[in-house]
Amino acid sequence: MFQPMAPLITSRLTLRPLDSADWSAIHAFTGDAEVQRYISGAPLSEQDTRDLIEMLRDWEHERPPRARPFVFVHTSRNELIGFGGLYWTVSEKRWQAELGYTLHRAWWGQGYATEAGAALLRLGFTNLRLHRIFAECHPDNTASARVMQRLGMTYEGRLREVEWAGGGWWDMLHYAILDHEWQNLERSRSGGAPSRP
Ligand SMILES: CC(C)(COP(=O)(O)OP(=O)(O)OC[C@H]1O[C@@H](n2cnc3c(N)ncnc32)[C@H](O)[C@@H]1OP(=O)(O)O)[C@@H](O)C(=O)NCCC(=O)NCCS
Repeated sequence: MFQPMAPLITSRLTLRPLDSADWSAIHAFTGDAEVQRYISGAPLSEQDTRDLIEMLRDWEHERPPRARPFVFVHTSRNELIGFGGLYWTVSEKRWQAELGYTLHRAWWGQGYATEAGAALLRLGFTNLRLHRIFAECHPDNTASARVMQRLGMTYEGRLREVEWAGGGWWDMLHYAILDHEWQNLERSRSGGAPSRP
């Protein structure tokens, strides 16, 4: 039977499972060319956004799940400011997942992606017992690369012409973190044993 994930609580955000009704709040930023610049190269139409959400929800309901998508809600304002999650893009490797995140432009540059990303790494390395979590970004997506670095991920190399988007082939920067690296980081941040959810 389908088991929905419990919300993830951070200091400023509540990450709750993605719902079909979230489409219009999500389209408020997936319809923004600046937000989509390094993801699809062009803004999504309303139908693209609805299709994306339904695809992610279908993936979440697969057995085993192919995605664990969440919306990022600003807790004190009760406002949906972004979305992201963990994705099993290499489906035969259940021990590794890809991390993704996107925020409404109004909320950039205030540490929210790092905060949400940290909660998703914690979920991946504790409840989901992953061994490796990776993320990729366009070489010009400095903000996303900084998020990966701030999360403690290691740059592993540049994948050449690996994505087709915006009418051309894109190189992507590949970053990853391993479970024991994350545990060491947690230990050094807390000054003791890694904390459990
Ligand atoms: C990438 C993204 C999620 C970052 O979110 P964010 O909440 O602004 O990130 P944070 O505030 O946690 O900041 C992370 C770092 O990026 C830096 N940064 C933020 N916006 C930046 C920008 N436009 N240009 C350069 N650096 C930027 C921050 O200063 C910070 O770096 P620092 O530690 O050196 O100060 C957000 O810009 C976004 O939604 N972009 C569009 C969607 C996207 O590209 N998603 C990722 C696909 S791989």
